Amino acid sequence: MNRLKTEFDGLILDNPLMPASGPLTGDFEKMQFMQEQGVGAMVTKTISVEAAKVPRPCIYGDRSHIMNSELWSEFPMEKWIEEILPEFMKIKKVPLIVSMGYTREDMEILVPKLDKFADAFEVSTHYVGKDLSVISDTVKAIRSNTKKPLYMKISPHIPEPVKFAEAVRDAGATGVAAINSLGPTMNINIAKRSLEYCGESGFVWTSGPVIRNLALGIIYTIKKALPDFTVIGTGGVSSADDVLQFLLAGAGGVQMLSGALLKGKDLYSKIIKELPAALDKYGFRDIREVYETGLSIDTVYDPKTAVLDEDKCTHCRLCERICPYFAITYDEKIIIDGDKCFGCGLCISKCPVGALS
Ligand SMILES: Cc1cc2nc3c(=O)[nH]c(=O)nc-3n(C[C@H](O)[C@H](O)[C@H](O)COP(=O)(O)O)c2cc1C
Repeated sequence: MNRLKTEFDGLILDNPLMPASGPLTGDFEKMQFMQEQGVGAMVTKTISVEAAKVPRPCIYGDRSHIMNSELWSEFPMEKWIEEILPEFMKIKKVPLIVSMGYTREDMEILVPKLDKFADAFEVSTHYVGKDLSVISDTVKAIRSNTKKPLYMKISPHIPEPVKFAEAVRDAGATGVAAINSLGPTMNINIAKRSLEYCGESGFVWTSGPVIRNLALGIIYTIKKALPDFTVIGTGGVSSADDVLQFLLAGAGGVQMLSGALLKGKDLYSKIIKELPAALDKYGFRDIREVYETGLSIDTVYDPKTAVLDEDKCTHCRLCERICPYFAITYDEKIIIDGDKCFGCGLCISKCPVGALS
């Protein structure tokens, strides 16, 4: 029995991890590489009617985030329809989610041409503003041309994610993909007094581990309001534990891009290989159980003082330096002042050797 298998809206995935739309699935060779990584489904780079005019450089990697100005596919739809997708169909082993953008008019052209390749569609709403009636009209235009599962991708600049999800659901979408990259953000080169890696607006879009908690919050919020609506989770995944967190928050499947841009393109196969051990570590039978578990809320108002395990302590004194309540001092060993300790927990989460509890 495959413990990693998951299923939503008739799509059957051997495991929940798939690429997020972006450069790693931007042509046939890349999609072939990604399939060899063992992903549960394929998600194409966003295809639009016109090829994107992409500034260079356009992908900046920092320690825990990526900033990009890559837009959508640099290839016109004809290349996808005549070359890339027919080639992929010959080797295809996993469900294919075709990502498209952006306007209602684009959809009326794209969907009839792409429908024969797609097992499902994902639609980026990144550059179409915040007007939900415009986004609903786009969904209706797609629905009148296909019955396939349709996931509308929400960008974090949409102010009310639940209203977005309700609007696209009522217009005929099957679910949402949450979230696209965060922005507008900026990448400033001090020496050159300039904005870099950006388009003409000067802005870039931020992704990777720094947006993970935001993605989790949006996924959880939507899933709580609309429990029967599929949410595909995206944003900051870079480990097997992250995948489990996304499933617990309510994601039916999990996408990743920036983690692989930061850590290496083989991160997909590494995570998929590590998932069974992660299930064991947390006592889950299988991926479905993680998804179905749901989350309790662990809030306590009675403060508890931090306790030090002196055998584990390496005397690095990080806890002393960071304690916001000035409760930790050092005199040949760490001393916690029980009267001053607020029980905030920062030292516990930051101790590099787990000496505080
Ligand atoms: C270089 C780059 C290009 C991207 N291109 C697209 C795209 O064409 N279509 C799209 O819907 N999202 C695109 N995204 C957003 C990702 O699919 C994803 O939603 C976002 O980066 C958050 O996930 P991550 O932190 O795992 O990268 C792109 C992101 C990056 C970093």
